[in-house]
Amino acid sequence: MADSQRHPFLHGLSKHRGAPPTVVVIFGASGDLTARKLIPAVYNLGRDNLLPADFQLVGFGRKPIPDEEFRALAEAAIRRFSRRNLDPAVWGRIAAGTTYVAGGYDEKAAFDRLAGHLADLEKKSGREVQVLFYISTPPTVFAPILLNLGASGLARKHLDQPHHAKVIIEKPFGRDLDSARELNATIASVFQERQVYRIDHYLGKETVQDLLVQRFANAIFEPLWNRNFIDSVQVTVAEDIGVGARGGYYEQSGALRDMIQNHTMQLVALTAMEPPVSLDAEAIRDEKVKLLRAIQPLVLGPGGDAARAQYTAGMIGGKGVKGYREEADIAAGSATETYAAMRLSINNWRWQGVPFYLRSGKRMARRVSEIAVNFKCPPGTLFAADGHFDLAGNTLSFQIQPDEGLSLILNTKIPGLETRTQPVKMNFRYATTFGSDTPEAYERLVLDAMIGDGTLFIRGDEAETSWKLCTPVLESWAAAGGGSMDNYHAGSWGPAAGDALLAKHGHVWRQP
Ligand SMILES: NC(=O)c1ccc[n+]([C@@H]2O[C@H](COP(=O)([O-])OP(=O)(O)OC[C@H]3O[C@@H](n4cnc5c(N)ncnc54)[C@H](OP(=O)(O)O)[C@@H]3O)[C@@H](O)[C@H]2O)c1
Repeated sequence: MADSQRHPFLHGLSKHRGAPPTVVVIFGASGDLTARKLIPAVYNLGRDNLLPADFQLVGFGRKPIPDEEFRALAEAAIRRFSRRNLDPAVWGRIAAGTTYVAGGYDEKAAFDRLAGHLADLEKKSGREVQVLFYISTPPTVFAPILLNLGASGLARKHLDQPHHAKVIIEKPFGRDLDSARELNATIASVFQERQVYRIDHYLGKETVQDLLVQRFANAIFEPLWNRNFIDSVQVTVAEDIGVGARGGYYEQSGALRDMIQNHTMQLVALTAMEPPVSLDAEAIRDEKVKLLRAIQPLVLGPGGDAARAQYTAGMIGGKGVKGYREEADIAAGSATETYAAMRLSINNWRWQGVPFYLRSGKRMARRVSEIAVNFKCPPGTLFAADGHFDLAGNTLSFQIQPDEGLSLILNTKIPGLETRTQPVKMNFRYATTFGSDTPEAYERLVLDAMIGDGTLFIRGDEAETSWKLCTPVLESWAAAGGGSMDNYHAGSWGPAAGDALLAKHGHVWRQP
């Protein structure tokens, strides 16, 4: 897009972030994520001239797929899933450098063949090319892939150069503390931490990045961002969809593993961390880990800090939907939660006494992800509650999806001859201000990994610290089994057990 055609508010913003010559190798290239997100991300980076001149894409998988067929699959994926239409010239350039290597993930010879193929590509390009491995397979094969990248020497490619081999690892990063530690140990046996990019695509979302800008580029927030002025914080990651055809997968996962341990904990860390000394990846990640370590172990059991539930039949968008236990591939007495909520206490100077509430669920009233920072109510001396005044504590909310933006609830005088007040909402919406052509999270993250910027990726110690908090909750739920599971109607905002977490402090969930 010519600069003159861009939205007026984007004029003058630099678009240039350069990656060195790179070959991206996708493991699991015939899969769903590759088609829906990764190939469209590469294509859109190409459309924005953000791919390096010598960019190459290599698919890897067990099924033999000729290069031509892989290119056709990729083109079909762009037509179906890309946020922008397929431009044949852009795709033609990417397709010319797109190839496929078939082999087993546990087959060393296949990785030797891949190494030979990459060496050929580098020879043809006539200069040093960095390799970015993207592991987009089910987690059962993360370890064999990592170990074979080590055994074939690929993990050490150009290790002494700035543009050394890098690896992106998809979620889930373990299913508890022990498995996360084991995966970290496998990674560390093959790669150095500076080569590793653990992805949480939430961190690639504009609003999540904007959280850092809002907090640290505006002087008005920092003086208020503490226990003296903030009453509570609520983080909601709600979906209106059920488990659909993924019941078998979901039974092994649940809301806490799928959403809370990663996405919502990351949102808490970014909201509550101390200002980093710089925008350097390590400086930011150091602060996030410090914050996560300050969260107190949760009180378990009835009346404790965590709640879980499953959806029962209900109405979504005017249509009747099944309950979780009636969905395909779900056990009759399933112990997997489709809703999880937690109350966190952060024991540091800034946050002591300010509850952080987290919730995530499927089949909730609507799809929304937001962080709501609730400020304390003003003293009631002037505008007392005598019926004329409807005063609310100010709430600053970051809406992560959909309809990305920021809003602030302020108490305002209702026009008229009497002084009456009412809370009103001031809204900033990305799409209104900047146009709706926002890059997808995966575009930002693939580009950052190519450039070598780990800021929006999770460090090994971060993943383990988050699991350390969540694992005892999972263990206590596993011990309790499916018999004591709470329920909520599909289309509601969750179970009474979730409300009870807040009631203890006189709070209620917002209805975003
Ligand atoms: N799909 C999403 O929207 C999404 C979102 C966030 C994160 N993720 C994560 O991204 C990764 C990939 O997700 P996906 O949905 O693309 O997975 P997928 O379609 O189930 O699998 C990706 C590819 O991995 C290979 N594969 C599948 N099952 C395998 C098995 N049991 N053993 C060895 N190889 C197997 C297959 O390729 P070959 O048969 O060609 O080898 C398959 O095409 C997962 O870790 C997932 O949790 C996915």
